Amino acid sequence: MHGRLLLAAGPPRAAAWSQNVWHEPMRIEIASIGDAAKKLRALQRNWALYDFQLHRRAALIQAQLPKVSAKPLRFGEPPPSAPLGSWTLLDANTILAAPRCSSPFPHGEARFVEDRTGPPSRAYLKLWEAFTLLGRKPGPGELCLDLGAAPGGWSWALQKMGAEVISVDKAPLDPAVAALPGIAHLRQSAFALDPAEVGPVDWLCSDVICYPARLLALVQRWLESGRARNYLCTIKFQGSTDHATARAFASIPGARLMHLSVNKHELTWALLR
Ligand SMILES: C[S@@+](CC[C@H](N)C(=O)[O-])C[C@H]1O[C@@H](n2cnc3c(N)ncnc32)[C@H](O)[C@@H]1O
Repeated sequence: MHGRLLLAAGPPRAAAWSQNVWHEPMRIEIASIGDAAKKLRALQRNWALYDFQLHRRAALIQAQLPKVSAKPLRFGEPPPSAPLGSWTLLDANTILAAPRCSSPFPHGEARFVEDRTGPPSRAYLKLWEAFTLLGRKPGPGELCLDLGAAPGGWSWALQKMGAEVISVDKAPLDPAVAALPGIAHLRQSAFALDPAEVGPVDWLCSDVICYPARLLALVQRWLESGRARNYLCTIKFQGSTDHATARAFASIPGARLMHLSVNKHELTWALLR
């Protein structure tokens, strides 16, 4: 273990909490800074330095590599498509390098040009990151159910994507969000909704604060009803992590479980159809 970098033997395993998986990492012996840069450049163009020790030497090597654009993404743009490798210095003369990584972003950290005036909270960044990684997002003509919507960051983001939104929360929405066209607010518990009465919806989104098992029961109820097509839900852990419920979410056929760079002690679960 080197800081956030965990080395594990064997083939890749599903690891929802990992921010970025280094595939087939290789050890490279280096004789000098120039030699290190030459050997990395020979493998490919773009490299992100994972800098956990020997900072000065590592920075001098990175300085000899081609610049990788650090521009934040505008939401709606696809993630960078050029392969991005990761590398680090294990000691002064040994590099660990993985030309192929699971995330298109350095260290799995997506950054966006933020909207600091429109949304009432920064929670909308979870949706932006998730939809960018999934390569799909709601759009005009689609209906989204936003559970646990207050103060309205997700509803704001979904409305800006052109979708119609039903926002559900016992708490009020920010007035500016509530006033947006295409947003209806149900002031009630998400758990009391009857899918047969509300559905069909194109997207069921949930950012409700609740125990994971309670969210799983809600999702299963909607899945059984067949009244929601796509799902994007935050699984929030309180205290210790409920790994059993996380595994149950992951085992739903077609599901994807991920830890977004903006997620704290929570995972994002998606099911797209
Ligand atoms: C993290 S906040 C959601 C933030 C929101 N996604 C945004 O972008 O602004 C969690 C919300 O879950 C709501 N919540 C908690 N229990 C709920 C329930 N049973 N039904 C509906 N909403 C609930 C809370 O009132 C709170 O507004």
